[in-house]
Amino acid sequence: MKEELKLAYEIFDSSEALQEEDKKLVEEARAITANAYAPYSNFFVGAAAILSNGQIIKGTNQENASYPVGTCAERVLLGTAAVMYRGMPIKTMAISYDNKNGESNHPISPCGMCRQALKEFEDRTGKPMRLILTGKTGKVIVLDKAVFLLPLSFGSSDLK
Ligand code: THU
Repeated sequence: MKEELKLAYEIFDSSEALQEEDKKLVEEARAITANAYAPYSNFFVGAAAILSNGQIIKGTNQENASYPVGTCAERVLLGTAAVMYRGMPIKTMAISYDNKNGESNHPISPCGMCRQALKEFEDRTGKPMRLILTGKTGKVIVLDKAVFLLPLSFGSSDLK
């Protein structure tokens, strides 16, 4: 038997086409790229999220001279959310970047490790997290749930 999985997402020509709250979040994600610590890759990533209580929090990538120690913007944000607002679901997270070595005109998508972390954040809060994927300019992708990016995923239920 063959199974097929479909990925549902929305795509917009630019952030101008987004609803107000999403547009604001994209602006915050783009602005916070300036606070990234990315002296090795020169790839400055910013994430901004709105929690279910309306609070906005942010994250940026934090690199290290010992390269594998570096952490992505998304996981920095998730850690902040879990510590500062324990148990609070994230409604929407916007992710943007500023590539100092090249273009920043297409959406980026979270790396595999971040997808796993995003999925578990959804599991532990019991709520889907919308994702908005952007660059400094250009098209914008919106997903209704982070787990859409990690089909057939591993999770805590597998450890039972
Ligand atoms: N990075 C993120 O912070 N988020 C992503 O979604 C993709 C990659 C960071 C990791 C590293 O500091 C730099 O971007 C280049 O890979």
